[in-house]
Amino acid sequence: MSTSVRIENLTKNYGKVNALDNFSLEVDPGEFMVLLGPSGCGKTTAVRCIAGLSDPSSGTIHIGDQLVNGLPPRDRDIAMVFQNYALYPHMSVYDNIAFPLKMRKETKRNIQEKVEKISKLLEISQLIDRKPKELSGGQMQRVALGRALVREPKVFLMDEPLSNLDAKMRAYMRTEIKKLQRKVGITTIYITHDQIEAMSMADRIAIMEHGLIQQVGTPQQVYSEPSNTFVAGFIGSPPMNFLECEVSRNNSHLVIEISGSLIKSESDALRNDFDRLYRKEQTRVKVTLGIRPRDITIGSDRLHSDLTMECVLSFVEMLGDETVLEVNIGKNSMKVLTSSTMTDTHQSFSVGQHVLIGISHEKLHFFNSQTGIRMGELK
Ligand SMILES: Nc1ncnc2c1ncn2[C@@H]1O[C@H](COP(=O)(O)OP(=O)(O)O)[C@@H](O)[C@H]1O
Ligand SMILES: [Mg+2]
Repeated sequence: MSTSVRIENLTKNYGKVNALDNFSLEVDPGEFMVLLGPSGCGKTTAVRCIAGLSDPSSGTIHIGDQLVNGLPPRDRDIAMVFQNYALYPHMSVYDNIAFPLKMRKETKRNIQEKVEKISKLLEISQLIDRKPKELSGGQMQRVALGRALVREPKVFLMDEPLSNLDAKMRAYMRTEIKKLQRKVGITTIYITHDQIEAMSMADRIAIMEHGLIQQVGTPQQVYSEPSNTFVAGFIGSPPMNFLECEVSRNNSHLVIEISGSLIKSESDALRNDFDRLYRKEQTRVKVTLGIRPRDITIGSDRLHSDLTMECVLSFVEMLGDETVLEVNIGKNSMKVLTSSTMTDTHQSFSVGQHVLIGISHEKLHFFNSQTGIRMGELK
């Protein structure tokens, strides 16, 4: 019984501000779609238009087969949960959840049945008589979810619903919301600026910048094949390293110049990748190379990798079971994530030391150095 949502060429201007710029997105029935992007990129504007709280300047929104432009929010069969839960402080949990049903003038019996069912689902049955001030942040969030879901809406919109919770509760609630959505099967559009939240919850992620969608894909797709440098830098932590280089090829090898340093690679695999992505007739091309910190191996001896560079270790940051190293090559610095333990790393690396880093060819990302667009076809 799930419903699709289809948004076509949605534009919303606030005076000179282009909050949404030809925004198009299709959400499948029952799908958990995450809108991800930095603050101010137009996420809230998009969901407000879908909910009917804001009118788009142009474009269409379909919920199922119905064109909903112009329909008031109450006729769109949508539930929305915001960052501030907006529970009624003088009402019990029961009455808060029952409220939308009372507004719809459902029978007492019906209301009771539905509130009990949703409380059980959210595991808050034991809290039903409490007032909001007697609840923790996470419990309030569940009540807010309950109040939204009790109407059995066709679409669930959530705008940064976990931002007010502490880190531990946030991690807990994101699993809970995801499980709940699976159980109920309701089409969901979930907004966040937090890429970890997006990666862990989404069936698909739509990544936005300046009112535009930059890429839509599964968490795996946007991570392993980011369509441009914006997406590549936004997904993943620590962020992807970018190196501006000039690559020349001759018969036997590639020479990669990075801020004055020349790096030679005799790897056939890397050479083949390069020939496939760049036209054969060009012998020297400007390239933005993207390398994820966890795709780099580091050592002091000869590494068997397709691309090996000598760097200077400039910083060591211990994170417990992982360590982030910063290395410099010329004027560029790169982050390297190693899973070695603190004591291992302490013993083997010290700041100022020369190290070798190695990257396997299939882990390299190539972007057009002018446009930032990924080279080659997306799968
Ligand atoms: N009511 C408004 N009046 C004028 N500008 C607005 C209004 N609402 C949002 N904006 C602007 O539109 C852009 C997108 O805002 P918003 O959708 O809230 O972004 P996000 O939710 O991604 O942080 C921002 O530049 C913001 O300042
Ligand atoms: Mg917002």
